[in-house]
Amino acid sequence: LFAGETLFVKGVVAMDGLPPADRMEVCFAGRSNVGKSTLINALTGTKALARASNTPGRTQEINYFTAADDHYLVDLPGYGYANAPLPVVEKWQRLLKQYLSGRQTLRRAFVLIDARHGVKKVDDEIMSLLDSSAVTFQCVLTKADKVKEAERQKVLDQVRGALAKHPAAYPEIVVTSSEKGWGIPTLRAII
Ligand code: GTP
Ligand code: MG
Repeated sequence: LFAGETLFVKGVVAMDGLPPADRMEVCFAGRSNVGKSTLINALTGTKALARASNTPGRTQEINYFTAADDHYLVDLPGYGYANAPLPVVEKWQRLLKQYLSGRQTLRRAFVLIDARHGVKKVDDEIMSLLDSSAVTFQCVLTKADKVKEAERQKVLDQVRGALAKHPAAYPEIVVTSSEKGWGIPTLRAII
């Protein structure tokens, strides 16, 4: 699935710019700075294919990548706080919601949760949107290298509790660190 070169297909700024819905896709959603772009780089074994940065609001378009011509990996702009002008942020938040609720070939949304912070109100709202759109989603804990084992377990419990309220949630949570490579083979296998 991930053999060979991963390619950037295009950056999309409006729904009519989406590539033809001719293959399945999975997307990576989550609060700004949670590690979406970095996770795509880890999954595809590339260093800077998806542009990552320490500034929340780095990804401002829906970025399509293709690994083996048979599916797309979709890097989304973050939700929540972003270091960008408000009208710009509002525009991409609207697009994000349209995408999450209206993309036929979207098979699964990965909702990334920072292992230090757990599920926040904005995450819960996105999960509700996915419920009502009947898009199966799965939680991925990111930056697991930044917390100790006991804290990770506490956050995992909090995430499990939050997921219980969402019918579209897939119960298994994938714990990852893009920095250390933890959970990356598991996530590849799921995709
Ligand atoms: P936006 O595009 O702004 O929404 O952010 P994003 O979710 O794409 O986050 P991005 O991948 O740009 O990463 C944000 C910051 O977190 C970067 O400085 C990354 O290096 C760092 N980061 C991402 N994943 C990990 C991880 O597993 N461990 C550690 N320690 N840092 C990480
Ligand atoms: Mg990004």
